[in-house]
Amino acid sequence: MIKKIFYVLIAALVIIQFIRPKQNIAAGPFPADVSTKFAINDNVASILKTACYDCHSNNTTYPWYANVQPVNWWLTDHVNEGKKELNFSEFAGYTAKRQRKKFNEIMDEVKEGKMPLKSYTWMHGNAKLTEAQKNALYKWCEESIATLPPAEPSQQSDNNKSTPQ
Ligand code: HEC
Repeated sequence: MIKKIFYVLIAALVIIQFIRPKQNIAAGPFPADVSTKFAINDNVASILKTACYDCHSNNTTYPWYANVQPVNWWLTDHVNEGKKELNFSEFAGYTAKRQRKKFNEIMDEVKEGKMPLKSYTWMHGNAKLTEAQKNALYKWCEESIATLPPAEPSQQSDNNKSTPQ
């Protein structure tokens, strides 16, 4: 009986290897890429590429284990969910209001240690951000927000709330 279950499991594992979602790889060009509207220095560009782009752009660099199911489904889910929230390859096409909101969310998520996802930094040690990298990211967000039209008071997050008088 045990043996039978074991064979069924192995067969199932083999079969699911053939069910592959479409990979998140696109050649571009991306006319609404974040860099077309917001200045990004090399340091910030490399931070975003290393720590965020796998889930928040139109191109994911897939590790070898991404070819193994069910890992691939799990990664695909992260990429789809991540891109839905924030896609740097399409960022310039967002409304100014959404861009402001996303810049604020980026600072919030990184400050709270929620992004990049823990499950990602386990496997990608170089995506773990140093304090200096975090500060460079915040500075870039602040500077980018400053280029946008002023926000409605209700749109301000904790990051740019002025201290009460
Ligand atoms: C392994 C995939 C992955 C990586 C890497 C990653 N994210 Fe995410 N991100 C997600 C997923 C999935 C969501 C949507 C679900 C959630 O909020 O947890 C998300 C959501 C977000 C959101 C929206 C949160 C909200 O309030 O709705 C922001 C902002 C964000 N990520 C910023 C970043 C930044 C900045 C980096 C790089 C420093 C990064 N992420 C790296 C997967 C990732």
